[in-house]
Amino acid sequence: MQRIGVLTSGGDAPGMNAAVRAVTRQALNLDLEVMGISRGYSGLIKGEISELKDKDVSGKINRGGTFLFTARSEKFKTAEGQEEAIFQLKNYGIEALVIIGGDGSLQGAMALERQGIPTVGVPASIDNDLSGTDYSIGFDTAVNTVVEAVDKIRDTATSHERVFVIETMGRNNGLLTLESGLAVGAEAILIPEIEFDIEEVCGIVRKGYESGKSHNLIMVAEGIKDCCLDQSKKQEKHYSAAFQIGEIITENTGFEVRIIVLGHVQRGGSPSALDRVTASKLGSKAVEVIKSGGRGVMVGINQDKIVTVDYDVILEQEKQIDESLYNLAKILG
Ligand code: ADP
Ligand code: F6P
Repeated sequence: MQRIGVLTSGGDAPGMNAAVRAVTRQALNLDLEVMGISRGYSGLIKGEISELKDKDVSGKINRGGTFLFTARSEKFKTAEGQEEAIFQLKNYGIEALVIIGGDGSLQGAMALERQGIPTVGVPASIDNDLSGTDYSIGFDTAVNTVVEAVDKIRDTATSHERVFVIETMGRNNGLLTLESGLAVGAEAILIPEIEFDIEEVCGIVRKGYESGKSHNLIMVAEGIKDCCLDQSKKQEKHYSAAFQIGEIITENTGFEVRIIVLGHVQRGGSPSALDRVTASKLGSKAVEVIKSGGRGVMVGINQDKIVTVDYDVILEQEKQIDESLYNLAKILG
């Protein structure tokens, strides 16, 4: 093995740069050349590939986003797209790939594996929705970003004694919402994994004010639009479940409600120390796995230990929400 490649794919996550840095420096340490592939699978198909040297990753550990850029590629999901990607890998003499991204990106890694290309996945997603790892790079920074924003919202919510419905990211899951909701002491947390009763939420708001609270913070995961209250609205392109929840709370309780969709601010920012350290460990481990002949695995964290997980495990299982954490947030909020 002489030359490996590295790419970042899917939604960006703070710490991706730290992971690329770790891959590059560990590879150089193990006498491997590293090729950086820009714009994920899209750039791979187009051959947007150039060598990464030591200096190319200097000054990157503290930077959010990904300096390799990222993209989503429908073409890569097709046999033709994958054929073109494999052609480029052969053309550039890349013998194995480190793929840094979320669950979709790792499905892409599996597709390449099935066609004989050695790959190792590194989990990076603010959603933290990959099974087989307790933790994905970017999650900690995103939780802290949400907490910082909601703490500010709380100030104005308290001054005006308002209800705020705050929507956080999480296409299919509520991990980010739950963790940050617990951290800000939200009065209610609505996530796709756990059924909720909107009447109960209105009751929480009413009781909150009756018991002397000066605000109510309702955290809503983006993904609840998939189990939304008015199914006809689900089809609307810019439909946000938070608005519907907000409208119902206004109608049922008469309290003043404001709605905030935090959006992409959650994906940016300088990575937290935890994300930098995790990215350094996982990126480095991915290269060690390749160097020792390993492939078809994701590196991850299990009970604070670095582990390797077969792709099959990631595919077969869905990441479970910690219901005890949800119940705790309910009691404490
Ligand atoms: P994330 O990695 O953040 O979950 P996506 O789900 O958008 O992001 O996936 C990123 C890219 O991975 C997609 O645009 C596509 O190119 C590739 N990909 C996703 N699913 C598959 C699949 N089943 N087969 C091949 N490639 C896939
Ligand atoms: O996968 C991370 C994520 O931020 C999801 O939480 C969100 O639904 C999605 O990406 C948004 O993606 P886009 O980059 O297309 O706006």
